[in-house]
Amino acid sequence: MKENFYITTPIYYPNDVPHIGHAYTTIAADIIARWNKLQDKDVFFLVGTDDHGKKIADTAQKAGKTPKQFTDDMIPEFKSAWEKLNINYDKFIRTTDTHHEKIVQEVLQKCFDNGDIYKGEYEGLYCTGCEAYFTEKDLEDGCCPIHKKPIENLKEETYFFKLSKYQKPLLKFYKDNPTFLSPKHRSKEIINRVKEGLRDLSISRNSFDWGVPLPFDKSHVAYVWFDALFNYYSATREKGKEGFWPTDLHIVGKDIYWFHTVYWPAFLMSAGIELPKQVYAHGWWTLDKEKISKSRGRVVSIDELTEIAGLDSARYFLFREASFGEDGDFSKEALIDRHNNELANKLGNLISRTSALAEKYGIEKVENALLKKLKLKKIEKHFDKFRIDKALSEIFTFIDHCNEFIQHQKPWETHDKKVLYQLVESIRQIAKLLSPFIPDSAEKIQKIFKTDKIKKAPVLFNKIEVSKPNLNKSEEPRQIMEGITTINFEDFAKLDLRIAEITNAENIEGADKLYKLTLDVGELGRRTICAGIKEFYKAEDLKDKKIIIIANLAPRKLRGIESQGMLLAASTKDKKTVSLVSPDQDIAPGSTVG
Ligand code: ME8
Ligand code: MG
Repeated sequence: MKENFYITTPIYYPNDVPHIGHAYTTIAADIIARWNKLQDKDVFFLVGTDDHGKKIADTAQKAGKTPKQFTDDMIPEFKSAWEKLNINYDKFIRTTDTHHEKIVQEVLQKCFDNGDIYKGEYEGLYCTGCEAYFTEKDLEDGCCPIHKKPIENLKEETYFFKLSKYQKPLLKFYKDNPTFLSPKHRSKEIINRVKEGLRDLSISRNSFDWGVPLPFDKSHVAYVWFDALFNYYSATREKGKEGFWPTDLHIVGKDIYWFHTVYWPAFLMSAGIELPKQVYAHGWWTLDKEKISKSRGRVVSIDELTEIAGLDSARYFLFREASFGEDGDFSKEALIDRHNNELANKLGNLISRTSALAEKYGIEKVENALLKKLKLKKIEKHFDKFRIDKALSEIFTFIDHCNEFIQHQKPWETHDKKVLYQLVESIRQIAKLLSPFIPDSAEKIQKIFKTDKIKKAPVLFNKIEVSKPNLNKSEEPRQIMEGITTINFEDFAKLDLRIAEITNAENIEGADKLYKLTLDVGELGRRTICAGIKEFYKAEDLKDKKIIIIANLAPRKLRGIESQGMLLAASTKDKKTVSLVSPDQDIAPGSTVG
């Protein structure tokens, strides 16, 4: 029988469309769900929306809709966002689902019957943006510290939940289950706050009716967090899903860690339900170092996120840029940078070089020394502890090993089938390990290397040219001395200068100034260029010489020969002396110059 694995994301408020923050949590859960499927576990991956509460009721009213109509209209936005992000969830729950509402009433009744719910009056502070109760000392200048808006003073009849009763049981639970509060560094704050004491919690409202009615007093609706947290449980009360309870992992943002690590286990204890195994809080994304804020137009939408460099590059970036659990700063430039340097250069080049060479020379089975450098156990351990950024980084360390191996073994010179076999096998492993992170690209790689009849791969990650910043006056080309005009750095950066080794120099019929040179440009392969240096060099002196070429010059035909680049040479004004520019050390062909 397969082992079960049950993972959840928060159920987001459908008061607005999801953005990069919601995407992050949901992709994290998707990565972990996919990894556990690879481990042959029976995975249940739950997502959903938190439809009830004052915040939704108010937003709907402003939009001139009933809360039900408003949320119904928002759900397709969430579903299409998860589709765009390739989220492979198993169930989408809404707190307005009849089944869920029934379960919420069932547990409310249980807590009530246990004597944990009593009637009283709540007088105090409430932030509808947070859907949370505050005390005076939580405020900043009388405002909610998160929404920076004046806070509401509530005074209404309510039912309280005896949270104070669960202080000791909670502390004992944390102690007996040391991984419940994850990552570890977040546990202290919770434990300390619980040690300070817990006040009973208002769990019903009677000044509006957008919620689940209390079964023992229909004039009240359940506090939105009581209702929402139980989504995780009610999803497993569906036929066939019972075996998934308790949850293996709740992934949440640090903003809602308290609700999940204090209220949630206390409610469950009261209702006599087994407790979840782990709550893992991740950090907060900012945008160019500032808080993401819809009202200030500082937000990255799902479309913006995926349009920068494609979906997989976005998924990759989010788990490479920030360590999972810590805060991260988003910038388009940083994403493009990682796309170009890590996905296009490191991974993309490995795939294209290996596939091209394997097509040309074939592969031959041998003991795989290269694959021994793959630290699979370490990667598995990172995944088991949900350190997904560390797992990803370890996979890329192995990709670096593969690139060093190919550079060192030079299979384009040796045509060594055994070297190519080791690379092909390694890439198969890499594709499998990367599949939770970049599922579409990993599938493409798997297809390319599926059988031993390998064909050259198409480009998987197109490099993105960084758009030039608007040229202002001072950046425009200008003359700084007679005959010298400045260029922008971007112009210079367009040149792909490389070290090339001359493997052959031949005369060209009818051309008394030109040689046809054959070059070895390492990873760029063999090149032919025509160079006007015949007057200055004997053919036999050119052989084995290392020179510098411009490798990305558009090819052109000279005397019927396609010249694929240009070499660098120095010349005196009178053109009597011409000297090839050569590196002063023995450096591998293909090395970049700049
Ligand atoms: O709190 N960086 O819903 P919500 C990282 N309905 N993550 C972010 C983020 C950011 N800048 N912004 C949002 C609720 N998130 C409740 C949950 S669960 C029973 C009920 C993510 O719509 C992060 O996961 O306010 C955070 O915890 C969540 O969105 C809050 O979503
Ligand atoms: Mg929120």
